[in-house]
Amino acid sequence: MIDKNENRFEEIISFCKRRGFVFPSSEIYGGFSAVYDYGPYGIELKNAIQAKWWQNMVHNREDVVGLDSAIFMSPKVWQASGHVSGFSDPMAECKKCHTRSRVDHLLEEAGVFADEKMSESEINKIFDKNKDKVKCPKCGSNIFSEAKSFNLLVKSNLGNFTGDWDKEPTYLRGETCQGIYINFKNVLDSSRVKIPFGIAQVGKAFRNEITARQFIFRTREFEQMEFQYFVKPEDAKKQYKRWKEERWDFYVNELGILEKNLRWHKHENLVFYAKEAYDIEYNFPFGFKELEGIHNRSDYDLTQHSKHSGSDLSYTDPRTNEKFMPWVIEASVGLNRILLMVICDAYTKEKIGDEERIVLKLEKSLAPVKIAVFPLLKNKPQLVKKAKEIFDKLKTAWVCEFDDNGNVGKRYRRQDEIGTPYCITVDFDSLDDKAVTIRDRDTMAQERVAIDQLPEYFSQKFS
Ligand code: GAP
Repeated sequence: MIDKNENRFEEIISFCKRRGFVFPSSEIYGGFSAVYDYGPYGIELKNAIQAKWWQNMVHNREDVVGLDSAIFMSPKVWQASGHVSGFSDPMAECKKCHTRSRVDHLLEEAGVFADEKMSESEINKIFDKNKDKVKCPKCGSNIFSEAKSFNLLVKSNLGNFTGDWDKEPTYLRGETCQGIYINFKNVLDSSRVKIPFGIAQVGKAFRNEITARQFIFRTREFEQMEFQYFVKPEDAKKQYKRWKEERWDFYVNELGILEKNLRWHKHENLVFYAKEAYDIEYNFPFGFKELEGIHNRSDYDLTQHSKHSGSDLSYTDPRTNEKFMPWVIEASVGLNRILLMVICDAYTKEKIGDEERIVLKLEKSLAPVKIAVFPLLKNKPQLVKKAKEIFDKLKTAWVCEFDDNGNVGKRYRRQDEIGTPYCITVDFDSLDDKAVTIRDRDTMAQERVAIDQLPEYFSQKFS
């Protein structure tokens, strides 16, 4: 039996394609697994989420600066960070159909808990004990090879002109934060920051994920928004608590996510670099899953890069002359994962009389289109001219869409689906009373507003 949530998720996935939010990659060539493209409304929504994060994490703070480091780095970075030897997931192969699966996911499907961070032998013990419960997602068999660690780093041949590709691969970055650590000294020497301070970065990351599933939740190419806060070792506990609170508040107060749909998950098995780790989980249609990771990474990264590069990345306090290796508090989230959360959270079906409307009840500042402008009728040049004038004026401050296709009811439905908070209609009265009708997405209430008051009206609505 297909459960209600599964239906809802399937519906959201097809909605994302139909309304130009997310497209499967390379569809005309039969697709390309675990990679997605973002359509006209998807990119607007993604940009709006990113801008909100940047405003909250960088521009609103005196102690945080931004960075944009390259996707490619010296392969030595990934050796020093521990990714070449330890960045892996447990994988097993079905002996019948040869499909490869993530063992912690197979166990999870069977209702058995196994942490992805467990050692190979730990996970094999649990896997062996539960072999009769797990099933290959493709053929249903339960005969598997033993679990082996599979490294997730994506190799490339960038700069390799000798063809010795396997001996000296370069990697597409597996996490954006390594670019922050290797630029720690550059930022320190070129700006006015002093510890404690943070560096924020948004950019692509790449992982050879074994199992591609749950749409854009887990993909092989994705974007991370990462934040690293450098502190004195003795302040790490206090700062960790602070950033846990700040990040929770971001989802509740900035993105409007209901607290009942969020929860904390404490990691008992810590990744090789972490001293303490919690995830914020969101209640996706497929259950509570990791949204963001908040980690106390200790002095692991700066120490490793100091050792491997020979550059001393320790910090000398200008007031006390005390020298120490800073500890790092990290908040790391996938931009695509937030986008999925925001769409799942906002996707609503409402009965209006005998009809049903789909409405994306997005927090207004995230809406891909903020204001839609309609002339009541397409074939009345005076109405079209006035509507165009209004559109041209408002589009300099907000993302606007001009729509004269079909009747006004249909235009409302189209805009509701993509979450447009306000629709303006220019009608025959507008030519005399110099006012327009504004319709609110959520309440569907309409009000008349003078055309020359529109900039002020929307400034207040979007403030
Ligand atoms: N620098 C720490 C780090 O990368 P992580 O838990 O591996 O930690 C952090 O990833 C966040 O990045 C996750 O909470 C998730 O939001 C996002 N993320 C990780 N892998 C992803 C993937 N394959 N697809 C989409 N988002 C991913």
